[in-house]
Amino acid sequence: MTPSEAQTRIAALRAEVAHHDERYYRKANPEITDPQYDRLKRELGDLEARFPEAAGKAGADTPTAGVGDDRAEGFQTYRHRQAMQSLDNTYSEAELREFHERLVKLLGRESLAYVVEPKVDGLAVSLTYEKGALVRAVTRGNGTEGDDVTANALTIQGLPRVLRASAGAPLPDLIEIRGEIFMALAEFERINAARDAEGEERYANPRNLAAGTIKLLDPREVAARKLEIVLYGIGACEPATSGGETQSGYHARVRAWGLPTVERLWKAQGIDEVWAAIGELDRVRAGFAYGTDGAVVKLDSLALQREAGSTSRAPRWAMAYKFAAERAETRLSRISVQVGRTGVLTPVAELEPVLLAGSTVSRATLHNQDEIARKDIREGDFVYVEKAGEVIPAVVGVNTARRAPQCVPYVFPKSCPACQTAVIQVEGEVALRCPNYDCPVQVRRRVLHFASKACVDIDGMGEAMVDVVVGKGWVKGIADLYRLKREDLLTLGKSVEKSSDNLLLAIERSKKADLWRFIHGLGIAHVGAAAAKDLALRFGSLEALSESRIDAYIGSSKESLIAGIGPTMADAIISHFNQPVNRTLVRDLVGAGVDPAKPAAAAPGTGPLLGKTFVLTGTLPTMTREEASARIEAAGGKISSSVSKKTSFVLAGSDAGSKLEKAKALGVAVIGEQELLAML
Ligand code: IVH
Repeated sequence: MTPSEAQTRIAALRAEVAHHDERYYRKANPEITDPQYDRLKRELGDLEARFPEAAGKAGADTPTAGVGDDRAEGFQTYRHRQAMQSLDNTYSEAELREFHERLVKLLGRESLAYVVEPKVDGLAVSLTYEKGALVRAVTRGNGTEGDDVTANALTIQGLPRVLRASAGAPLPDLIEIRGEIFMALAEFERINAARDAEGEERYANPRNLAAGTIKLLDPREVAARKLEIVLYGIGACEPATSGGETQSGYHARVRAWGLPTVERLWKAQGIDEVWAAIGELDRVRAGFAYGTDGAVVKLDSLALQREAGSTSRAPRWAMAYKFAAERAETRLSRISVQVGRTGVLTPVAELEPVLLAGSTVSRATLHNQDEIARKDIREGDFVYVEKAGEVIPAVVGVNTARRAPQCVPYVFPKSCPACQTAVIQVEGEVALRCPNYDCPVQVRRRVLHFASKACVDIDGMGEAMVDVVVGKGWVKGIADLYRLKREDLLTLGKSVEKSSDNLLLAIERSKKADLWRFIHGLGIAHVGAAAAKDLALRFGSLEALSESRIDAYIGSSKESLIAGIGPTMADAIISHFNQPVNRTLVRDLVGAGVDPAKPAAAAPGTGPLLGKTFVLTGTLPTMTREEASARIEAAGGKISSSVSKKTSFVLAGSDAGSKLEKAKALGVAVIGEQELLAML
């Protein structure tokens, strides 16, 4: 390779890696697997090292120097006291051994003690505890400053707001504890099963869903998905000694404080023991709650860690060894295009079934037309399919040597495969959409969502029945569900009388479902069940909601007027009802006899918080104090201004003062906004 070729390649790789950093860190929606990404980044790093001059000419900015950037709109940023670094990684045993040799040389000792930890596949977070109380949770961001996601992190079960003091583990004045937020596989499956039932697209993998969830603007939506956390590292610590002297001791300390730590950790003397521990980790990792895509090898002694130091990007005392992805080659027989509820077209690779990491794979998502073009994937190609800590396998490349001459570049359909309407590209989006509101697949998905358990819950109106009633042309939109005729249903078979009557009864019953269920069922972008409940409480009817104006949501100084409904959601609601079809739907539903049950404000002397006394302190993440007090009282609770033994709960926000101390001293339960909302 000549220097000028290197320069061209470096520039291209930088753009490509930067693109994938954006997809992974900011959008939580990567197009390539981790091993593919690592290969690109490795190639870039190697070229930059071999051709420093060409690297300089290719521009100053390189993604190999940083740690990515996850900062997103809608969050306050917060500067870490101690920067959050990344880790060097390798897939090779030889390189792992070189890492050890480097340390031997650098530290001038033959024998080095390590710990081997699972590499947790989630998103990095830094928790700050001051005098034992959780004050902040911040994402890694660009390493120097990240997004303050405290309100969302407070929904994580098993994350103590207050550390437990114990004899062997004194509480520091201030400590940044680092770890990983993740979603357990079981929770991921539960959410995807619900998506299936609603006819919505499945989420790709738990890591991305966890990363997307922590960046939701509504903490209640976060609470509805169970996130978990595991802690493994230390940032700033005052006094410095309170972190302990070794990494393994630090783990013990973190556990003693009541924080969740990695499921297993190996102490290893020298690199051979490290290698054996990695082998054992690989054998047991399938049983862990979180996805584990490798091992992190760290020097055990914190003093030696300090001595080894760091580069600008990563510590010299740690190395991630990543398990190779399982890969298979198979023929891609066809690319099919699926239409989503909102008309988004998603290409799917239909594969000749192949065994991969223990399961048979016959389909893989291709994300969008850009990805197909970039990889030049063609129907009939032999492709590599990879599964790497990912639940959905990905097509990572084409074996062009096996490409048949008749294979032609794939042309994305110009019209919707379901209704043949010309597809459009919405400005600012990669995805193509079918703009036809009456497209039968979109209708099917909308109806399925509306009738699902999460919405008005019409028993018997599952996927198969929706297919029938839409296919027969009886249901062209949601409101038609309420116009289904018994005589039509009776034509569906011989002994369908009973099932038809049951279905009609379920439809009839759904007319009186809770208002929020209807609101959720309308399928307004960004509006989930929790937000639908707030909207129901605020507007009291579908008509009032459909006629709402922006000033009902956002005040003159840009503040949210409805708790939990931020500006993005408000915009989505307004533009939803700006479309005449959506206003017509509301009118049709009401015309068809829909009579939603209004949410009842708790009468005095009743409610879930009856007999409970609350003391408020600090700033709550989304509610004002007045609002929180009003909601507690509406639910039957009482507000008091001082903490005593009779206090049921202290509701604490950030910068909580002496009331929090007193609560701890008296052993009064301390809760956050999320827990209050859960009680309500
Ligand atoms: S230590 C300064 N330990 O992997 C070193 N990181 O690829 C800080 N990760 O940014 C990291 N499990 O988000 C460490 N046991 C573990 C880990 C771990 C997962 C993540 C972390 C880090 C990334 C680097």
